[in-house]
Amino acid sequence: MTLWEGRLGSDQARALMELSESLSFDRRLAPDDLRASRAHVRGLERGGIITSDETAEIIQALDQVERELGEGSFAFAEGDEDIHTAVERRVSEIAPVTGAKLHTGRSRNDQVATDLRLFTRRELSSVAGLVIDLSEALLVQAQKAGGAYLPGYTHLQRAQCVLLSHHLLAHGWALSRDVDRIIHTVVRLNVSPLGAGALAGSSLPLDPEGVACELGFESCFENSMDAVGDRDFVAEALFDLALLGVHLSRFAEEIVIWSTQEVGFISIADAYATGSSMLPQKKNPDIAELVRGKAGRLIGDLTGFLATLKGLPLAYNRDLQEDKDPLFDSLDNMRRELVALKGLIETATFQLDRMRDAAHDEGSAATDLAELLVSNGVPFREAHRVVGSLVRQAAAQGRSLFPEVFAELVSAHPLLGPEALQLLDPGVGVTRRTSPGAAGPVAVARQMERFRERLDVDRNRLETLAALDVEVGACGGSGRG
Ligand code: ARG
Repeated sequence: MTLWEGRLGSDQARALMELSESLSFDRRLAPDDLRASRAHVRGLERGGIITSDETAEIIQALDQVERELGEGSFAFAEGDEDIHTAVERRVSEIAPVTGAKLHTGRSRNDQVATDLRLFTRRELSSVAGLVIDLSEALLVQAQKAGGAYLPGYTHLQRAQCVLLSHHLLAHGWALSRDVDRIIHTVVRLNVSPLGAGALAGSSLPLDPEGVACELGFESCFENSMDAVGDRDFVAEALFDLALLGVHLSRFAEEIVIWSTQEVGFISIADAYATGSSMLPQKKNPDIAELVRGKAGRLIGDLTGFLATLKGLPLAYNRDLQEDKDPLFDSLDNMRRELVALKGLIETATFQLDRMRDAAHDEGSAATDLAELLVSNGVPFREAHRVVGSLVRQAAAQGRSLFPEVFAELVSAHPLLGPEALQLLDPGVGVTRRTSPGAAGPVAVARQMERFRERLDVDRNRLETLAALDVEVGACGGSGRG
């Protein structure tokens, strides 16, 4: 049986079915499809299109479908092209007469757009929750790191030493922007397309406002053609996930580098590392590598889907069915990435001695020396030149002699002198990074507080969004007013 057998007969080529079915992947929209159908039916009742007895009967049938799907006893049929078809077919089996009224004033075009918005609202918000969980793990490690310091790098060359907590929170702030971006995407997508029909609305007295309200949508579509053709929210979700994936890949790359024997700044717990099938001694950072690698796939999901959207004429086109695979793929992969990375971070050991040894590179104190000169009234350009030439002279003596020669030159310099030598100790140098947002202990303590507050605020924002997913029942004839 097909939904259009009145027009085309019911003979369908197998090849058509195999290409066009989406049930194999869109069945995960079932909870959203059922919720949207219940709201739709109550809207039909408010419009006087069906009676309250009919409403009750259809809703009972929808409840039964929900139970069957939950128990795994729901029998999908040969012709169930997608989840919408399957649910409607089963409702009509349970309540043959009234079930045939479920699809009144509705098309799968506004139905699937509604389901997918409900789904994305919930799933994207829950991914944001996992990002906050990972951020918490970073914060805990940052707190544990205390005064530990390491070289900070630019161009992957030692630059100035920084607190480990500062370094970890640098990744944390990028993640906080990801959470913020996701929340904005969710707020923007919270518009109901239900009532747009196939593309043009309906001659029936539907109540799209009331339906929107019942589904927790902030507002209702303004233009029925836009409502069924718009997948901006999928593209935005994919972008948010791709950029989040890019952020995670940068962090992951550092974990890979930090866990090499050469650098040795981090030891990954055995449970979060992998071995080699051939090399008995190996301990590999596969989680970090997969996180790094999956960034490519997330970017692919985004760019592939943008290519699908490009040039699509109004309004609904079947191309849009291609929205689900990339969205599900990105969400599923991101979820796994975030959970694994959080475990890795929570259980990792930072090798503070290695970090400190690496930071004990007198060259890293150059900027501190220049700033000392500045505070003694030397113009910065001049200070830069003075210290630069000391570094140059010391470097000319070779790597092993550098520390000694540099210290002698600093101590002998009329504008610097023996007191400046204390700045060559990176443990002292790092305490001097006091400007707002800087890498030293006073500024980082403040930063940690602000980060903590930010996580709390974002958790509250997500709780507000999660409340939209609680089914509340009918909103009343006038919608949310
Ligand atoms: N499975 C379809 C999709 O995901 C549902 C909408 C089908 N609409 C249509 N006119 N064939 O987009």
